[in-house]
Amino acid sequence: MDGGATVYYTLDEISKHDGKQDPRVWIILKDIVYDVTDYLDDHPGGADLITEWAGKDGTKEFDNFGHSADAKKELKKYKIGEVVEEQRKKKSKKSEKQKEANQKQSEKPTSNDIKYNRSCISIITCGLCG
Ligand code: HEM
Repeated sequence: MDGGATVYYTLDEISKHDGKQDPRVWIILKDIVYDVTDYLDDHPGGADLITEWAGKDGTKEFDNFGHSADAKKELKKYKIGEVVEEQRKKKSKKSEKQKEANQKQSEKPTSNDIKYNRSCISIITCGLCG
């Protein structure tokens, strides 16, 4: 391994690695893909708790237990890639935020409003002059 470019997987591809169709067990946690096959027997909670989520997203269950920092460090060793951008769970939230930001942006005074203000001022000043 040279720590090179990130590999991206589709949910379809990940789902094949469920320990049955394919002997490897992959799991998605927070849009990151882990091959935890070699960890199953070492898991203090037993292999079944992980294999239940083989080929799937187990983020909620992983977080529900409240794994320690050590567990998260251990997890890093098994990262093999990430979920493709279009199929990420987080993406939707991000794009929501983006939408909100765009909306806020459009609420700001535009150059049109400024022009409008200017023309008001010129009408008033012209009125005063005339
Ligand atoms: C959805 C998947 C997972 C579930 C539901 C789960 C659940 C659990 C549970 C219930 C325990 C408590 C066991 C006990 O004290 O009897 C535990 C402990 C632990 N798990 Fe998992 N686990 C999952 C995935 C993983 C993965 C992928 C790793 C690391 C590669 C991991 C690392 C650990 C460690 C190190 C502990 C010991 C306690 C700690 O340090 O937090 N787990 N897990």
